[in-house]
Amino acid sequence: MLLFASLLTPVSGMVDGLAADGVSFDTQVSLTQLSPHLSPHPPAMAVAAAHPAATDAGIAIMAAGGNAFDAAVAVSAVLAVVEPYSSGIGGGGFWLLHQAGNGRDLMIDGRERAPLAAHRDLYLDASGELIVGASLNGPLAAGIPGEPAALVHIAEHYGRLPLAKSLAPAIRLAREGFPVDEIYRRMAAWRLQVLRASPAAAAQFLDDGEVPELGTIIRQPDLALVLEAIAAQGRAGFYAGPIAKALVDGVRAAGGIWTLDDLSSYQVIERAPIVGRYQDWEIVSAAPPSSGGVALVQMLGMLEALEARLGPASSDADRVHRLVEVMRRAYRDRALYLGDPDQVEVPVERLTHPFYAAGLARGIDPTQASPSLPLATESEGPDTTHFSVLDAEGNRVSATLSINYPFGSGFVPPATGVLLNDEMDDFSAQPGVPNAYGLVGGEANAIAPGKRMLSSMSPTFATSDEAVVILGTPGGSRIITMVLHGILAAIEGGDPQDWVAAPRFHHQYLPDEILFEADALQAATQRELVDRGHRLRPAANDFGNMQLVVWDRAGGRVEAASDPRGIGKAAVRVRPSSAGAP
Ligand code: GLY
Repeated sequence: MLLFASLLTPVSGMVDGLAADGVSFDTQVSLTQLSPHLSPHPPAMAVAAAHPAATDAGIAIMAAGGNAFDAAVAVSAVLAVVEPYSSGIGGGGFWLLHQAGNGRDLMIDGRERAPLAAHRDLYLDASGELIVGASLNGPLAAGIPGEPAALVHIAEHYGRLPLAKSLAPAIRLAREGFPVDEIYRRMAAWRLQVLRASPAAAAQFLDDGEVPELGTIIRQPDLALVLEAIAAQGRAGFYAGPIAKALVDGVRAAGGIWTLDDLSSYQVIERAPIVGRYQDWEIVSAAPPSSGGVALVQMLGMLEALEARLGPASSDADRVHRLVEVMRRAYRDRALYLGDPDQVEVPVERLTHPFYAAGLARGIDPTQASPSLPLATESEGPDTTHFSVLDAEGNRVSATLSINYPFGSGFVPPATGVLLNDEMDDFSAQPGVPNAYGLVGGEANAIAPGKRMLSSMSPTFATSDEAVVILGTPGGSRIITMVLHGILAAIEGGDPQDWVAAPRFHHQYLPDEILFEADALQAATQRELVDRGHRLRPAANDFGNMQLVVWDRAGGRVEAASDPRGIGKAAVRVRPSSAGAP
C-alpha cells in the first residue's frame, strides 16, 4: 500500500517576499510528528562530521550553551578551513534544520548561483563545442558563494550564541593551522596542476609547488581575516566592502566575470523540504535546486509500488535489480525536469506523487534491465562534505556543503584566502552532454544569469514514531543513491556503524551501468544481474563519506557513526541533566 498522499500537502502556509535583511523567504513548512508517549528530549547530543576538528568544535559549542544550529555554524566553518578540498566559504550548501520546539523542518538554501554576466553558452567555443575544463578550473568556473550568507543567516535566525563565538574555532584553526592528512594529499595530488596555476592557491595549499608532506601545518591567515570580518560584520564582511572588492578584482584579473553586484545581491533562501513516506517512515530531504529529495521520494515510492505488486525481493540479485531500476528512472527524471525552481517550472508535486511512482514502477520488468540511452562517460568525484548534529533539546541539522570538485576551481583571489568553487560545472553546459560526474542535464538546468545550478546534495532526516535518523554524504552524482542505501539500512535496523560502512552500488541512468564497490555484489549476484541485461563496472575507489546520527527514542539512546572510508569522527555527549541516568 502507498502511504505518501497525506504528506504531499503542506501543513502550514507559505510566506513569499523579501525580508529587510535581504533574505528571501519561501517558508512552506512541514511538521514532523513524533510519538507523544516518548520523551521529546534526547538523552545526549551528537555530532558526526568528516573531520575530527569539526566534530570537536560542534560538541564544544553545544557544551558552551549553543544549540544544534550554533553547532552547525561552527562545524561548517571548521570544515571550510580543514577540508579545503570539500567545502568552504568560497562555496555553498544546503542546511536542513529541524526545530524541536515547533516541529518545523526547513532547508536553508545557500547554493551558489551563476554570475549575472553568465549565459547559456558560457563554456562553448565559437563553433559551439565545449571548452574542456572551462567550467571546472579557474575563476570562470566559480559560482557566487552562498556559504557565508547561510552561516550568518543560521546564526541570526536560529542560533543562540553570537556568530563570533561560533566562528571562533574556525578562525583559530585558520590562523594556527592544521596538519595535512592522507585525504588532503590525495586530493591535492589530483588537482595539483590547477592549484599551481593560481599563485595564491599554491602558496596556501602547496609546499613550494608540491603536495605537502603528511603532518605539514597548513596556515591560512588571509582566510582567518575574512572569517573575522564575517564574525564582526555579518554578511557585509564578505559581500560588501574591501573583501568583496578584492574577490571581484582577483576574479576579473584572471579572466572571470564576477561583479560587486553579484555579491551584494546574493540571497539565502529558506525552502520547504521535500517530504515523503516509505513504510512507516517519514523522509525529509533537500528541495530543488537539489535533486536529492525528489529523487529519494521517487525511488522509495517505486520500491514500495514494486513490493506491493511483486512482494518482497526473492534473491539478492532481485533486490539489486529493483534498486537499480528505480535509480535509473529517478536519474532520468532528474535530467529531464530538475533545475532552479526560481527560474524554471519544476513539477515537484507530480514527480513526488505516489501515483507517478507507481506508474514508473509499472514499467519495470522484474527480470530484465531496461536499457538507458546509449551514451557512456566517466563519473568521478569524492568531493563535498556532510555533517549531522543533534542537540539535547531535539533540534537537528543535516547539512551537505560543497565547493564541487576537489579544491573547487583551484583559484584563490589574491590576498583573500578564499578558495573558490567550480560549481558552474553542475549546470548542463550543453544539454545532453555529461558533466564531470557523467550526469546529463536538459534545458531546466541550462546556464542563466543569477540561476542556481542543480545539485545532488541530499541532507536528510528519516523519522518514525520511535527513531530519528540524520544522515547524508558527499559523492557527487552518487550522493542520492548512497542516501537511499543509508535510509534502507536504517529502516532495516542494527548497528549504525554498519549502515555507514556497508559497500555501495549506484546507477544514474547514464552511463548505463551499475558501478559497485568491492564486496557490494557477490559473484552469484553479479552473474544473475548480467543475465538480466545489466552492465557492471567495479569502482576504482571507495565512494562516499556518510556522517550519521540516530536517536533511538524507544531505546532512549543516541548513537553516531562516521564512515570508515574517511577520517571523520562521531561523538555523543550525555546531557548534564541525564548524566548518570541508567
Ligand atoms: N557539487 C555537487 C552537487 O552539488 O551535487
